[in-house]
Amino acid sequence: MKFFIDTANMDEIKEAFSLGVVAGVTTNPSLVAKEKNVSFPDRLREITALVPGSVSAEVIALDAEGMIKEGRELAAIAPNITIKVPMTPDGLKAVNVFAKEGIKTNVTLIFSANQALLAARAGASYVSPFVGRLDDIGHNGLDLVSAIAEIFAIHDIETEIIAASIRHPQHVTDAALRGAHIATVPYKVIQQLFNHPLTDKGIEAFLADWNARS
Ligand code: E4P
Repeated sequence: MKFFIDTANMDEIKEAFSLGVVAGVTTNPSLVAKEKNVSFPDRLREITALVPGSVSAEVIALDAEGMIKEGRELAAIAPNITIKVPMTPDGLKAVNVFAKEGIKTNVTLIFSANQALLAARAGASYVSPFVGRLDDIGHNGLDLVSAIAEIFAIHDIETEIIAASIRHPQHVTDAALRGAHIATVPYKVIQQLFNHPLTDKGIEAFLADWNARS
């Protein structure tokens, strides 16, 4: 499983990429809205100048025609822009057009296996099941990741699964075990993945022994 970072913040993106473990970026309108004094296209230029992998940029229009127009404009910013489209009939019409034009797509707000299958058949490059938001309403988001992974494996579907709405490190481990190709992870959770008290204790003990040597 690969890691993407789920943010539109340049400091977080720079720091995560310097770690060498992150392969792409996902943004959404809520994340972009947190970034003040920068236009969306300019922020996408900054991100794609730094990140060679997939950078998801979400359309705002809700009708297929509007999504296609917006998506083409966003895709023209850099060759590694992936157009993020919501899971609706209009969204999938747009995905189908983008697929024929060689524009990569990420179908977002996936909450059922049938939605993921529909998106894949429309030509989506990625589907994003929202694990945390399903957990929030008392469902099991990771069961959805397993179901999609199983269906895609049975039917030889090449669409990649991005486990999204990741809230804590256990989500990351479980997404990997359940067959997600990618987890898109907030910066805070990436930091948490590094932590283990025994690592800290071990470093402390090694240093203490080193400093006490005669
Ligand atoms: C994924 O592409 C979404 O941007 C994101 O993971 C949503 O996460 P949230 O449910 O924490 O807002």
